[in-house]
Amino acid sequence: MQILAQIRSRFAPALQALFVSQNQTATPEQLVQALGMIRPAQNSQFGDYQANFAMPLAKPLGLKPPEVAQRVVAALDLQDLCSEISIAGPGFINLRLADDFLRSQANAAWGDAGRVAVGRGGSLPVARLGLTEPVTPERIVVDFSSPNVAKPMHVGHIRSTVIGDSLAKVCRFLGHEVITDNHLGDWGTQFGMIIYGYRHFGQADAYRAAPVSELSRIYRYVRRLMDLLEKLRDLPKWEQGLVGARQRVADCQAELAAAESGADKAATKAARKQWQDAQQQCEELQQKITAAQQQLRQAAQDEALSRDLVEHANLHESVLAETSKLHAGDEANVQLWQEILPHCHDEIERVYGRLHVEFDHWLGESFYHDALGPLVADLQARGLVRVSDGAQCIFLDDFPAPMIVQKRDGAFLYATTDLATIDYRLKQWQPDRVLYVVDHRQSEHFLKLFAVAAHLGYGQVRWVHVSFGTVMGNDGKPFKTREGDTVGLEGLIDDAVAKALEVVTQLDEAKETGPEFSPEQRRSIAEVVGVGALKYGDLSQNRTSDYRFDFDQMVALDGNTATYLQYSFARVRGIFARAGLTPAELQATPAAIQLTNAAERAVVLSLVRFQDALEEVLVDYRPNLLCNYLFELTQEFSSFYNRPDCRVLGVEPDLQRSRLAICDLMARTIETGLALLGIQVVEKM
Ligand code: ARG
Repeated sequence: MQILAQIRSRFAPALQALFVSQNQTATPEQLVQALGMIRPAQNSQFGDYQANFAMPLAKPLGLKPPEVAQRVVAALDLQDLCSEISIAGPGFINLRLADDFLRSQANAAWGDAGRVAVGRGGSLPVARLGLTEPVTPERIVVDFSSPNVAKPMHVGHIRSTVIGDSLAKVCRFLGHEVITDNHLGDWGTQFGMIIYGYRHFGQADAYRAAPVSELSRIYRYVRRLMDLLEKLRDLPKWEQGLVGARQRVADCQAELAAAESGADKAATKAARKQWQDAQQQCEELQQKITAAQQQLRQAAQDEALSRDLVEHANLHESVLAETSKLHAGDEANVQLWQEILPHCHDEIERVYGRLHVEFDHWLGESFYHDALGPLVADLQARGLVRVSDGAQCIFLDDFPAPMIVQKRDGAFLYATTDLATIDYRLKQWQPDRVLYVVDHRQSEHFLKLFAVAAHLGYGQVRWVHVSFGTVMGNDGKPFKTREGDTVGLEGLIDDAVAKALEVVTQLDEAKETGPEFSPEQRRSIAEVVGVGALKYGDLSQNRTSDYRFDFDQMVALDGNTATYLQYSFARVRGIFARAGLTPAELQATPAAIQLTNAAERAVVLSLVRFQDALEEVLVDYRPNLLCNYLFELTQEFSSFYNRPDCRVLGVEPDLQRSRLAICDLMARTIETGLALLGIQVVEKM
């Protein structure tokens, strides 16, 4: 049910009438903006909702803010929704929902036995909870996860995967048609690395026994060789740079000494700053050199590695050549690629399996390869590309650099594939909106891509880059292993589950009636709790900020965590066990939710706002708003539940049924909300 949208729709005619009375017409933007300023009240003392548009509208309307508020209120028809409408301060309109309305909404949500499928192809039905369908359902393509395969999935892949999955589910729940597509990087340089590595460093036995781990060993080995070769090449340059940097420190020091002997304090300060900066630069370079030297020394001790460094000194060029051969259709390379790819799929499927993430389509970059030549030819025929420096380019007024669609050597680029992808998706699916859930480093790319799409006349589609920040370690630097490698996603899941097992074990052992779970049960609960913690830890962050990875915080029982929500869910279920009743049995009785005190009213108000919270998520694609909602709801519930005047069991039968219904609606709301974040619940914890 939409509460906020209903209230806003009542305000719309009152606002329009006000503009007319001042001989003006409200522009659609003005109206949307003003209605957007009707929001849930920050402080429940003032009511349930507050409208703050009187101030910004006063001037354009030629009225005083209180007058704006008074006139709107006088024209409002809100009787069936609100019991109190008052004006406070300089024109804030405060609304309190009528208890009758609140009750009817809560009963409708609780009595709704319907379910909505939010997973792929009609899977994963969740409780509908009185949902109202959107006025204009859209078809929305969500491009998410999209890892570059042939290398193990790492921590960098988690954000796109969980944010995209959650957004897809929220869109589906709210009645949109969603098509998810995993736009795999299955055609890039990493395959040149694997192909070259497979031929030169592959071990047939190991490959036969465990292809995926052998492939990932090969990938890592080639990566390492390439890094070392790069260091060998760059080290002399860096060392030379160091000489210059030291000289600069000395120069700056002399300048500082000269400045200090003068009387100009500002000059001294500036000179000191320069000297410090020079020192810092010098130190950083020194550190880089030392680290590289150490790595090279270590490598030198490894005989095979040293030999490979000599024998494959042109590795970089060779890898590029293998990639080009693959793209040009070289039979041996294509065959090898076809042989390797299914193993790469197995590898990432295993991770998706543990995360319960599914896609409607897996149309990776390779899928578009044959379309790239014709695409560029078509652009040429339509006069949309221009040759610059031998490359085929699309120039746009608002961008200093063009989008290159084909390089001088004939190679196509990431952007070319994305244009072909747009073309395919529009023809195949005719979407209204396309969401690209990709990290913020690709912002430029998407900005340009969307501009080019508009320029090429690719339909009236809403293109959105849902970007996100980097995953940081506890030290505030990009999350790496102690050895400085990227953190593998599978290991991360294992660690989260291990951490969760500690929490589950502690909880179980602390039970008054003694532990109730077998080791097996504990492990399966820990899997749900650990995966949930990992996802929620990410989803509860504002997606655009970098986010600090902290295992302990993630599984805390007393914060904004999945663990807290899952635990609360299990406790609410426990109430039913103690009542000797199942939720289904309760649903079959003539129960009705009553509002008998303020704490009870506050929980019910939170509960009926579920859909409002979800719509808020889609305004700017922010799953963290759903997390916040669930967290606040749970806190509200726990203060209700802990109050002596809100006892659920042992009160008179009608009241007990009412309170059990509130508990049941609470449990289903948490379960559904978590499901929309891609997180499961457990009945007991
Ligand atoms: N494979 C790319 C990467 O790992 C992300 C692809 C995102 N989707 C797209 N249509 N460009 O950086």
